[in-house]
Amino acid sequence: MKSALVSAPRIVRSIAELRKEIRAFRLAAGPEATVGLVPTMGYLHEGHASLMRRSAKENGLTVLSIFVNPLQFGPNEDFERYPRDEKRDVAVAGEAGADLIFMPQVSEMYPRPPKTSVIVSGITERLCGASRPGHFDGVGIVVSKLLHIVEPDRAYFGLKDAQQVAVVTRMVEDLNMPVEIVPCPIVRDADGLALSSRNVYLSAEERKQALSLSQTLKLVPGWIEEGANASELTRRMRERIGEQPLADIDYVEALLYPDLVPPDADRPLKDVLKNDSVLVAVAVRFGQTRLIDNILLTAEKR
Ligand code: PAJ
Repeated sequence: MKSALVSAPRIVRSIAELRKEIRAFRLAAGPEATVGLVPTMGYLHEGHASLMRRSAKENGLTVLSIFVNPLQFGPNEDFERYPRDEKRDVAVAGEAGADLIFMPQVSEMYPRPPKTSVIVSGITERLCGASRPGHFDGVGIVVSKLLHIVEPDRAYFGLKDAQQVAVVTRMVEDLNMPVEIVPCPIVRDADGLALSSRNVYLSAEERKQALSLSQTLKLVPGWIEEGANASELTRRMRERIGEQPLADIDYVEALLYPDLVPPDADRPLKDVLKNDSVLVAVAVRFGQTRLIDNILLTAEKR
């Protein structure tokens, strides 16, 4: 636990200085003290804040990283126009309990184009991995770099990006990285829309129609209870979301979690859930904006 005294977080832009700060903290705080890392791309909202608060509660030092990682954006994606607001981010981070904010330039993180790849196979083949080729290779390398730079005891990730949680957890396990990956629940607006930095792109009408994502996901447990298998479930979901004229569906899938492979096609999902967790995930475009949302149903037996 950190002290109740709230002080403005310190902004650090170089890897060397960040390592120095963390070393100083560990020296002063002793071997019991832990460090939490919250990796983000900034334009912070309550979803990001919830990860920082959790970290501040569980660790003596919370490091927030803000870095819009060019390697995880495709050539036709929104890297250039990704929203940025450093001043507001610092205020949100301070309020949520971050102690250090690591805000490197691209040249600090990638002085040369990396020749090393971090590829997690299988788990990245579907969902956003299929729609955004190379995306998770970019996430793999940047998260590995951040974990090596910060050497945290825990790193916090939101289940809003459930596939990312599965990929990072498996990477850490496969490579014996000494860190605990902590999955955190999805934070939503009062009307149900999952918070996302990209929500600012939405027009009023698009935002209204985007509520169909969370509203449809809410119906999922009932449809499963009625006996739907994966294809029946996703058919109903597509139909429901497709009622919105602006909705351009990228994917609607029900997959076993965390391996993200399809369940037995004919098996009712309520039977599947006796032994396996199931992720029901959607990605839908409204105009220029691609939104994702999901519900993770956990296995009865674990
Ligand atoms: P970003 O989209 O900024 O998200 C940073 C973290 O906040 C992720 O773990 C994400 O899942 C979490 N998050 C976003 N919206 C959330 C919500 N509504 N509720 C709960 N958590 C939420 O994800 C990334 O950045 C990048 O891929 C990154 C991991 C930083 C690597 O570049």
